[in-house]
Amino acid sequence: MEVRKIRISDASAGMLVAEDVVNDIGQLIFPAEARLTDKAIARIQFHAIRYIRIYLENEEESEPDQSIDELSYFEKLRDSEEYNTFNEQFTDVADTFEKEMMRVLHEGGDTDSRSLSNGVKKILSSCRSGIQVFDLLHCTRSYDEVVFAHSLNVAIIAAVLGGWLDFPMEDIDVLIQCGIYHDIGKLAVPKEIIDKPGALTPDEYAVMRTHTSRGYSILKDMNLDNRVKLAAMMHHERCDGSGYPLGVGGNQIERLTKIIAIADVYEAMTAPRKYRKARCPFEVIKLFESSGLMLFDTKYLMTFIEHIAVCYMGYRVRLNDGTVGTIVYMNRQDDSKPMIQVGSEYIDLFRNPKLYIEEIL
Ligand SMILES: [Fe+2]
Repeated sequence: MEVRKIRISDASAGMLVAEDVVNDIGQLIFPAEARLTDKAIARIQFHAIRYIRIYLENEEESEPDQSIDELSYFEKLRDSEEYNTFNEQFTDVADTFEKEMMRVLHEGGDTDSRSLSNGVKKILSSCRSGIQVFDLLHCTRSYDEVVFAHSLNVAIIAAVLGGWLDFPMEDIDVLIQCGIYHDIGKLAVPKEIIDKPGALTPDEYAVMRTHTSRGYSILKDMNLDNRVKLAAMMHHERCDGSGYPLGVGGNQIERLTKIIAIADVYEAMTAPRKYRKARCPFEVIKLFESSGLMLFDTKYLMTFIEHIAVCYMGYRVRLNDGTVGTIVYMNRQDDSKPMIQVGSEYIDLFRNPKLYIEEIL
């Protein structure tokens, strides 16, 4: 039977555990070949164990009368070998990253940026294309480990954008490190604020904003490229000077930091949160087009939007009126409004301002 490493937050009662679950000192918390209960899941979480290996019992999990054609693209992808490999690699790197940062914060010392960025490169090299990376990220997202998973996602998205911009490999290497460490200051912000569902109060928001300077303080004496430290400090700066903590703009923002800013906002908006569903990439494209051009580097942003939109060509989508169709033609005037084919009919979203893509299926 196939084995998959999963986050404990994705575990549910009844799953068959494939490998002994042990804590940091090697104590057995839950044995292999036994089925999880809600109590067992709580016990594993109590020991701060984030990942377990379970058997995939497909015949029990899939609905017998649902044919493969009826599954959505993402459901099919989630069942694929590619996803399994991606998920394993991603959770391994996230796990190493978390342990490494906890060690650095509690015991001091340097971070092994090379092995972490090699982990991200390995994830990227196992994917067929840039957009496949986005699709696989879409499938792996969950609510917990916000800082670590978000940072790795940003590193991956930034690396793909760096590739679309034809950046040299050395820059992409540093870009990956910028993504990995950009939000590290959040580990120094009280957990109640980081994990708070919904809007922060003005006081809480002021504390949250300190994660930029706190991140810089954590990284400043480490053996890292200076651009990685700048990205931690400046990834919330905006080109029109409206960002924080310094309120600088334009060329005062390092160019790799500008890439991280785009990847960070895209990742945060398309990720699910406890208090809201993930936003559709086309909704995020629309937001970038309507209010992002002043805030982000225009060349980088336009390259990002165009590639993301084009990559969804041929995908099935659901419109806000419930219509299901396929994206068949991109609109050069507005990347968020492509042409949709529904049976033998075509809907030009550009000419139907009330219609928009609500979900990619
Ligand atoms: Fe941040």
